[in-house]
Amino acid sequence: MTKILRLNEISPLADSFFAGYEYSDKAENPDGIIVRSAQMSEYKVNDNLLAVARAGAGTNNIPSAEYAEKGIVVFNTPGANANAVKELVICELFLGGRKFTDALDWVRTLKGEGANVPKLVEKGKSKFVGCEIAGKTLGVIGFGAIGILVANAAVALGMKVVGCDPYLSTNNALALSPAVRLVPTRDEIYANADFITAHVPLTAETKNMFDAETIAKFKNGAVLINNSRGELADTQVVIAALGSGKLGRYITDFPTEELIGIKNAICVPHLGASTPEAEDNCAVMAAKQLSDYIENGNIVNSVNYPSVSMPRTGIARLCIHHKNIKEILSKLLAIISAQGINVANMQDVSRGEYAYLICDLDEKPSEGSLDVMRAVSGVLKVRLI
Ligand code: MLT
Repeated sequence: MTKILRLNEISPLADSFFAGYEYSDKAENPDGIIVRSAQMSEYKVNDNLLAVARAGAGTNNIPSAEYAEKGIVVFNTPGANANAVKELVICELFLGGRKFTDALDWVRTLKGEGANVPKLVEKGKSKFVGCEIAGKTLGVIGFGAIGILVANAAVALGMKVVGCDPYLSTNNALALSPAVRLVPTRDEIYANADFITAHVPLTAETKNMFDAETIAKFKNGAVLINNSRGELADTQVVIAALGSGKLGRYITDFPTEELIGIKNAICVPHLGASTPEAEDNCAVMAAKQLSDYIENGNIVNSVNYPSVSMPRTGIARLCIHHKNIKEILSKLLAIISAQGINVANMQDVSRGEYAYLICDLDEKPSEGSLDVMRAVSGVLKVRLI
């Protein structure tokens, strides 16, 4: 029986995708894993593990590069929690402009003042005057599903929006409000934005992107919003910039010990995707992708393998993970044709150093021929479904 290990609490809406599987938080030697935030770098991978699906966007808790080398596909769920994160960013824009967090703390100190509270409120409120966001400039870094929703909502709230994304897809560009001004470099954002929000994955390229050199380019008093991952910002630099007033506020969904209690650091406890709606959406998308991969070998929304997906034809489907190197495809096809088997349909797609082949065959190849394929240099995994 196919086994799926659940490493975190996952919405029960995922259950129906695993009907007929063993689906539990105790499954041993699983064929698939579904995970939210559990750290997998120390997880001991079993030989038959086919895939890991993250119910969420960020995959920095999963060693995806190492898994690619073992032919283990890592999925994420881009867009499934985008609306929840967008709503958090809109809330944070208001928290960045107005002094609500300090004001709410202050109001609590009035407990016990009895009938004087209204008078004290009127007397003290001038300390908490803040600005409106309409008319201010928002810089958006990264136009994936979340960045687009944030940019369009900010336009609707009357903000001027500038943004950049070197990897902007045509579909995403078409989804952006025409009022969003695309700029070629982040420096143009830094020089103009009153508020900056980043929506990029944590990678070697984005780690510490908000360092001293970058923050020095910001307008004085700019508000930086980071709901992507804490490691995008150099925390000590951020704290110094808050102290000097270079940064007006730093608002993050990833608090650290150092940030807690720092004036004008607003720490949200990783609530971006914590809505029942987002949890349901992520669970359904992760479960659907994982079960489709296990049953049909289709890959959609992987972070370490290319998207390869096609309807089933033929009587057997061969799925092969291999290195993106010359002659490997012709060697594999030669092994199939040496058995006199017709290829009904096939797709072989590469992404960086890896590639994935789906081949629908009109006859079932022998076990021996699968072993011959496994022995081809550069082949990482061969699966017959
Ligand atoms: C994400 O990566 O999708 C968000 O940070 C929310 C989460 O980690 O669950």
